[in-house]
Amino acid sequence: MPINPVLPRNTLDANTSQQDDNSITSAPSLPKFPDGFCWGLATASYQIEGSANVEGKGKSIWDTYSHTPGKMKNNDTGDVAIDHYRRYKEDIQIMKEMGATGYRFSIAWSRIFPNGTGVANPKGLDFYNRLVDELLKAGIQPFATLYHWDLPQALQDKGGWQARETSQYFAEYAGYMAEQLSDRVKHFFTLNEFQNFVDMGHRGIEMVVQGKPVQIELAPGLKLDNQALNQVAHHAVLAHGLSVQAIRAMGKKDTKVGPAEVMFCGVPVMDTPEHVKAAETATRHLNARFLDVMLTGKYSDSYLKEAGKDAPKFTEDELQAIASPIDFVGINVYIPKMYVMASENESGYSEVPMSISHPKMSSPWHTFSPEVLYWAPRLTHSIWNPKAIYITENGCAANDELSTDGNIYDTDRVMYLRNAMGQLQRATAEGVPVKGNFVWSAFDNLEWTGGFGTRFGLVHVDFETQKRTPKLSAKWFKEAAQHNAVV
Ligand code: BGC
Repeated sequence: MPINPVLPRNTLDANTSQQDDNSITSAPSLPKFPDGFCWGLATASYQIEGSANVEGKGKSIWDTYSHTPGKMKNNDTGDVAIDHYRRYKEDIQIMKEMGATGYRFSIAWSRIFPNGTGVANPKGLDFYNRLVDELLKAGIQPFATLYHWDLPQALQDKGGWQARETSQYFAEYAGYMAEQLSDRVKHFFTLNEFQNFVDMGHRGIEMVVQGKPVQIELAPGLKLDNQALNQVAHHAVLAHGLSVQAIRAMGKKDTKVGPAEVMFCGVPVMDTPEHVKAAETATRHLNARFLDVMLTGKYSDSYLKEAGKDAPKFTEDELQAIASPIDFVGINVYIPKMYVMASENESGYSEVPMSISHPKMSSPWHTFSPEVLYWAPRLTHSIWNPKAIYITENGCAANDELSTDGNIYDTDRVMYLRNAMGQLQRATAEGVPVKGNFVWSAFDNLEWTGGFGTRFGLVHVDFETQKRTPKLSAKWFKEAAQHNAVV
């Protein structure tokens, strides 16, 4: 377990008058992260790259969806986004100046295989080669996500994630990327947020926050029945498992791989053994279709019972593939799925309804519960005990405005990061093997159907001029990364 080195206590300035003797000008010691902790920033291809139609890129489901009238706020699209495809060098320089030690980006599958499968497009590959080389030159470790929701449209036309072949095509693409990049990229994330792209993309979800309903839909915007939805979920985890095998087969020996899942966390109402046990049971159940099957190699009895005749069709061989050994688990952590308390009922837990006045951040779905950054890794560790954990996303949107002095004082985001990172530090101090955190997001970008108005970046982007301006939170990040601590 890491031990916090005690920093020198602040001594009073010789000129300080007697009445100031009790003043404390900074913390006696900063809450430190373990040595080597990765201070990362995250983005995704469709949200930042732009150049949607150049150098042989094929269409993805997001190109189609964002051009469908009525789907996107203000009819925003990723056609240009923040023009990262052309400005990547400037963006890497900014991240370097922010002190980032890791960068999690995603690869647009349809840049590599315009039709999802077949012959690779060398120009698409070349972009990621240049990106990786530039990152390494800047001293930033590249972490590549292979799927952040932009399925090639050609595969959607053949059934998308409803078709088992899509899992196989994904594995082939993953193996190819490992072969091409793993001499320099040592960490690959397979798919991003299975739970969200499956449910939001193939059914749409509704949640209630502060008493108001919040609907979320993603591409391709289908409305499947329960059986079809469970089958899509199964194909997604199968794609993960097959891609792990392909990466092992095609990549360099020291390549590390794992998923980047939005962990659905049941946070116990209090830290007592019976409530923590209830939270473990709830969390396992909430992740039954994804993390649980990937890490245990079986669908839990409670999931199969609940799904009944709508359970996915699967074979034992597929389960074995899905649970192919991984090197780490990536979890995206923004909100608890629910608060949980122990119960005498059959499941052993019950959901505690969230108070109508529970505070929130500016996104409609974002309840402010920083303690989830403690509980999500702690429960991941106690339930599944993976070798290592990364927080692959964590951050918040804010109504950032340029002030008259040209700065962006995003005090709410700084407050958010301080609290969230403080909770995460507590988990690492207790020995939970969290190796790094990637703040979502490096830059303001296209927030899916929310368009450009929902700003998640530590760096402000003027979407008209493409001017980048680091916000106050970027300065906070730099300071924290330099001290490897919550500042
Ligand atoms: C996704 C990101 C998204 C962020 C904020 C995550 O669900 O992976 O692409 O922008 O949350 O909504």
